[in-house]
Amino acid sequence: MILCSNYAPGIVPQMEAQKKGCQQILWLYGDDYKVTEAGTMNCFMFWENKQGEMELVTPDLDGTILPGVTRISILELVREWGELKVTERSFTMQELLEGLKENRVKEVFGAGTACVVCPVGQILFKGEMYEIPTMKDGAPLASRLLKTLNDIQYGRIKSPWAVDIEDLAEEEEGIRRKAR
Ligand SMILES: Cc1ncc(COP(=O)(O)O)c(C=O)c1O
Repeated sequence: MILCSNYAPGIVPQMEAQKKGCQQILWLYGDDYKVTEAGTMNCFMFWENKQGEMELVTPDLDGTILPGVTRISILELVREWGELKVTERSFTMQELLEGLKENRVKEVFGAGTACVVCPVGQILFKGEMYEIPTMKDGAPLASRLLKTLNDIQYGRIKSPWAVDIEDLAEEEEGIRRKAR
């Protein structure tokens, strides 16, 4: 018999992480510790890259991460705003730590349907706790994304992602009538 599971392998590491005072696991992959996901969220880093550009980076869909709907929504929104460089590529713990040391990292956050966006304040890596300045200025990017996505979900701003169910029902009725 083959038993398949999705979240089960994460339960014991999650309990270990909690014992160490962490709320979530930052899942790393490979010898170079590529950042993949935070808990069951996709992971974003907003930083000033080495070329001096303000950039939002998230791992690309290389098969190791879940292609979350919140992830793609954030990418589409930020690309639409046109204020930041948006990059889908893997990034490593070394890049993140170097960016922190050089005060280039502005925000790190997880993204998923449950929380929408979740700021990261600290990362425990190889026994050392690193402070992430996400909340230092109130997480302007993460907060703006949260507000925009909530506004779309609650119909406060118009978006093709939000469909009026009554309009949809009428449309379907029209199609059915035509087909008769
Ligand atoms: C492993 C994993 N990554 C990311 C996500 C976020 O995906 P979404 O934005 O579609 O909720 C989820 C959601 O359940 C997940 O289980």
